[in-house]
Amino acid sequence: MDLQIKGKKALMAGGSAGMGRATAERLAEAGVDLYISARREDRLVQSAKEMSEKYGTTVTPIVADSSTDEGRSALFAACPDPDILSITIKPPAPNGNFLNVTPDMWRSSIETTLVGPIEIMRNYIPGMKERQWGRIVNIATFSAKNPMIWRLLSGPARSALLNYTASVSREIAGHGVLINNILPGMFRTEGFDENTQAYADAFGLEPTQEVCLPHFLEHNKIPAGFLAEAEDMAPMAALLCSPLARFIVGQNIVIDGGQHQSIF
Ligand SMILES: NC(=O)c1ccc[n+]([C@@H]2O[C@H](COP(=O)([O-])OP(=O)(O)OC[C@H]3O[C@@H](n4cnc5c(N)ncnc54)[C@H](OP(=O)(O)O)[C@@H]3O)[C@@H](O)[C@H]2O)c1
Repeated sequence: MDLQIKGKKALMAGGSAGMGRATAERLAEAGVDLYISARREDRLVQSAKEMSEKYGTTVTPIVADSSTDEGRSALFAACPDPDILSITIKPPAPNGNFLNVTPDMWRSSIETTLVGPIEIMRNYIPGMKERQWGRIVNIATFSAKNPMIWRLLSGPARSALLNYTASVSREIAGHGVLINNILPGMFRTEGFDENTQAYADAFGLEPTQEVCLPHFLEHNKIPAGFLAEAEDMAPMAALLCSPLARFIVGQNIVIDGGQHQSIF
């Protein structure tokens, strides 16, 4: 399918690994002029080089923490006017006992998963409106819609993000600027593996893949029968970034292998 985005400018905020990288790959493949950001420079620069060589398109790395004012300023300076914006930010790790979640932990969750994406969108929406075209896709989490007691520092703040985008997307859709959210379920990414220690702590397990992965699969029944790869969500993200999605406004698309049962 031709996504009709060749030559457009795209920013993947959080694009050096996991689902951000997989989305960036699909956009690069479609011929966009790509910018990717992340906090860790080495992996970011390497990812940009690999994608640029693979797809023959420009991929500009930007070292920036999307959860801070300083990081966002660096992002805005390096890429002032993207047509396409996708955002993903890593929230704090899995929590243990809910009674041990402190105000500082809530603040960190809100700064990363709520204020970060909102501030990035707020910066870019006026330019997109002026140009009468834009696509924004947040990569959030299915626990925004289906609460999980061990993901309190990810789900609740993302529920607020969904609430924000539900309103704002309707406000700007008439200008050709669309916001939609992807809500991923369980994906085996670099970030997933980095959470092994925190997952083990939350459930009182030995922090090894051999112990944690079977425990995880036992407690997260996935009807599709497997833990997803980042590439399993990227085609949907790329579609939402294209002109083909022009009638899809303010939607929350769950990609979870059927893990959570709900009609809407
Ligand atoms: N994997 C899952 O099973 C799962 C389940 C539900 C929801 N999600 C959500 O899906 C999103 C993507 O997850 P993933 O597993 O693909 O993560 P990942 O493998 O850790 O990739 C995240 C990407 O974003 C970058 N990033 C993270 N925090 C950032 C920040 N503050 N500023 C700038 N860049 C940042 C990372 O690079 P640096 O670390 O170098 O910054 C990396 O490039 C996350 O929001 C996560 O909460 C994941």
